[in-house]
Amino acid sequence: MTTPYWVAGSATTSAAELAVHSPFDGALVGTTSQATAADVERAVAAAEAVAPDLAVLPAHARAAALDHVSRRLLERAEEIAALITAEAGKPVKWARVEVTRAASTFRWAAEEARRFSGELQRLDTDPTASGRMALVRRVPRGPVLGIAPFNFPLNLVAHKVAPAIAVGAPIILKPAPATPLTALLLGELLAETDLPAGAWSVLPVPNEVAAELVTDPRLPVVTFTGSGPVGFGILDRVPRKHVTLELGGNAAAIVCPDWTDIDWAAQRLATFAMYQAGQSCISVQRVYVHRAVYDEVAAAVVAHVDKLGTGDPALPTTDVGPLINRQAADRVESWVSDAVAAGATLLTGGGRDGSTVAPTVLSGVPEDAKVVAEEVFGPVVVLQVVDSVEEAFDKVNASRFGLQAGVFTHDVRTAFLASAKLAVGGVIVGDVPSFRPDQMPYGGVKESGIGREGVRSTMDDLTEQRVLVLTGLTF
Ligand code: SIN
Repeated sequence: MTTPYWVAGSATTSAAELAVHSPFDGALVGTTSQATAADVERAVAAAEAVAPDLAVLPAHARAAALDHVSRRLLERAEEIAALITAEAGKPVKWARVEVTRAASTFRWAAEEARRFSGELQRLDTDPTASGRMALVRRVPRGPVLGIAPFNFPLNLVAHKVAPAIAVGAPIILKPAPATPLTALLLGELLAETDLPAGAWSVLPVPNEVAAELVTDPRLPVVTFTGSGPVGFGILDRVPRKHVTLELGGNAAAIVCPDWTDIDWAAQRLATFAMYQAGQSCISVQRVYVHRAVYDEVAAAVVAHVDKLGTGDPALPTTDVGPLINRQAADRVESWVSDAVAAGATLLTGGGRDGSTVAPTVLSGVPEDAKVVAEEVFGPVVVLQVVDSVEEAFDKVNASRFGLQAGVFTHDVRTAFLASAKLAVGGVIVGDVPSFRPDQMPYGGVKESGIGREGVRSTMDDLTEQRVLVLTGLTF
């Protein structure tokens, strides 16, 4: 049966069938269809029409819808995790984590919707404003176009949809072409709520149609997660819109000489370099290790990587599954070969079977090799020796990206120094850069993006301040 898409909250199909195949073995996972031009128009017109009413929908109604989705995600968790595994090739153990995170994203949005109140500002600080006070509230900037990536087909969709509902902004969501089915299933849960027609649509559309949506003046906010060239292309096309971009990274970790539990750090580095086959913007890609602990760290990382189970993502024992398609695996394989040709040492991995790349650890890689300088988005980690923490900071910063960094240190002074010196959106002390609780502000500097996600941060981003000045008050 064809999975319907969602136009202004109603299930719809078209003749333009879209088949979704497993990245692991090419098996058919399911079919949906592409939204027609008429349906796209219907969704945008409905979003525009409902915007004024949705903006004043009571907080309890928005929160109830969000709580409902959170609950239903947990009730259907196994089925949804299996769907993520099937269409994205994500190992089921990580797909389950993603469902739990998405439930938390919706629950946080419900809680924030109840709290989102604005603030009072006294104005009687000057004689001309005696008796005056400002009420500063945040109101939606307008209907939102959300464009989601394949690597978290549920939770990165949740990060676009839930905050929009929380602030009362209609949203049109375009899922990634490789992974539309999970977003469409989320549509089923949204359809069980009392949100008004037009509050949300989920439209699988080809990239040309998405480009038209980007320039549609009825959608003044565009939030995009994906590649840098596409993201900055959007910004260039609509410089007057409110655009937020969550783009790539080549996340780094630093292991300082004072860190005591080397085995724990190595296990975290190995796990989060390879989780989801490295297809996370904050997977560990570069590790700068102080010479004093380098040999011990390198041996332990390799030992932990070698323990990872690779293969069928549906098996609960699998840690590392396929990349999203064979072309991605071709690219990663060639970047590893280039690094070795340029003098890198292959400590483990390097193999390839179809779309699955063996978890790979390299060391002594020239800093301009693609596996260091670009975003690998594959199960590859580079271990580099440094002689000081300052040298590590410089190397982390010698990147055109800046999303998150991890610093293994027990020294609070190093922690503060890292926060001051590292050009990234977030520094994680005592763990990998991949740590991301969903309520935390998340986003990058430089070519890693513009703006912050994290439920409350996105709510701020989707809204603008509106001031109400009251006069003649005694307070
Ligand atoms: C991303 O790939 O940017 C998202 C990472 C995450 O949510 O854990």
